[in-house]
Amino acid sequence: MCKHVASQTIRQSASPLTITPLTASDLAFVRALSTDAFGEFGKYAGRNTVWMAEHHRGWVATQQGRRIGFALLDTSNRIFEVTAIAVMPGERGKGIGQALLHALERAASGAVELRARTADANVAALSLFLRNGFRIKNRLPRYYANMYTAYEMSKLAPSAEPRR
Ligand SMILES: CC(C)(COP(=O)(O)OP(=O)(O)OC[C@H]1O[C@@H](n2cnc3c(N)ncnc32)[C@H](O)[C@@H]1OP(=O)(O)O)[C@@H](O)C(=O)NCCC(=O)NCCS
Repeated sequence: MCKHVASQTIRQSASPLTITPLTASDLAFVRALSTDAFGEFGKYAGRNTVWMAEHHRGWVATQQGRRIGFALLDTSNRIFEVTAIAVMPGERGKGIGQALLHALERAASGAVELRARTADANVAALSLFLRNGFRIKNRLPRYYANMYTAYEMSKLAPSAEPRR
């Protein structure tokens, strides 16, 4: 579990959004949101995401004291992987995913590359990653437990980008 990154507050049009490192107290939230957000990909989505939250670095987005999203980053290899990112259904489309992805990218300075996978039909996730410089590298048929196809995307980690 990560405790290395200082919390960050982003002022949006409504109330401030705070992104903080994920702790053990966030695991029930991670399980509930991932069961809802990733349940269609397999029946153990909630349990598997909690396992990742316990082993990868993570961040939680909070607004008005309420948790509204989280993101996880596997930093165990030189290629860092975004292993999950999810926002509460009623809060999507407001830039929360964008703020979480920024937190991940700030933590990725030691990486060679950043990688992410998402279902080929997941327009919101594809849009988020492509808008942030990820490019599709591979199509992975039947990648998920429910046989959905995934796109594997990657980008150079921020520190690895060539200077202009
Ligand atoms: C993918 C996800 C994390 C994006 O989070 P978000 O807070 O909605 O992200 P953003 O607000 O930064 O916007 C992402 C894009 O999706 C669009 N979008 C997301 N939800 C939307 C909604 N409910 N209505 C309209 N547009 C929506 C945004 O407008 C934006 O599109 P743009 O790039 O063309 O502007 C979120 O949709 C989610 O939790 N999905 C379910 C879990 C999931 O699929 N995670 C990704 C798997 S790795």
